[in-house]
Amino acid sequence: MDYRLWTFLSKEKREDVKLNRIDLSIIRGCIFDLDGVIVDTAHYHFLAWKRLADELGYHLTEGENEQLKGVSRTRSLEIILDLAGISLNAEHKEILASKKNAWFNEYIERMVPSEIFPGVKQLIRDLRGRGIKIGLASSSKNARTVVRLLQIEQEFDAIVDGNMIRHTKPHPEIFFTAAEELKLEPENCVVIEDAEAGVVAALAAGMKCIGIGDPERLYRANKVFRTTAEVAFSTLRELETVNN
Ligand code: BG6
Ligand code: MG
Repeated sequence: MDYRLWTFLSKEKREDVKLNRIDLSIIRGCIFDLDGVIVDTAHYHFLAWKRLADELGYHLTEGENEQLKGVSRTRSLEIILDLAGISLNAEHKEILASKKNAWFNEYIERMVPSEIFPGVKQLIRDLRGRGIKIGLASSSKNARTVVRLLQIEQEFDAIVDGNMIRHTKPHPEIFFTAAEELKLEPENCVVIEDAEAGVVAALAAGMKCIGIGDPERLYRANKVFRTTAEVAFSTLRELETVNN
């Protein structure tokens, strides 16, 4: 609980809080990104973009790929074309984006539930057991397919994907929508993200953010872990006292 709130409470109310008779927790929802947080589909996105870039005669590096994480398919293609110094009309871009999407779908076709990152399902269940609502917010239009293949639909109280929003990350729209679906205020939510664009979006939505990956790259996040399995209920509680 936030220390500032605690100081306003009477002795009796403090006793109620200690005995869990009233819940003054600020964090009541946890919103997960999908690609790179729950499963390694970020790698399949990279392989498909790399294949496309190769066809265009451009060598796409893993470093450059970081810019593609969290943003929409169309935006990703535009970034690659900019990097390659290639200019194409809308029709041609559409053909390339569909080609990449077909390859991505080929790669994920045989995906099985055991590919979920270790500890993620346990984390979701532990949080839920402690009264935290669980959301999924992915810019991907394939998010529901991935969720279905992993058989984790029932783990979420709300799912928001790339088909439901007008602006993808770093715009905060997806997180506002997820909070609305969870019937929570943005300040009651924490986001788990592996993309820089996702961290920026979460903070812009007024939420706390846990980064998964390289601490230098995700320095804007309130906390960064190498893997999702390192996140715990206590992490959410710790974030309640952090000011953005
Ligand atoms: C995000 C990924 O989750 O979804 C991006 O991080 C991807 O890499 C984006 O480009 C859009 O995905 P899709 O499946 O709609 O092409
Ligand atoms: Mg991601």
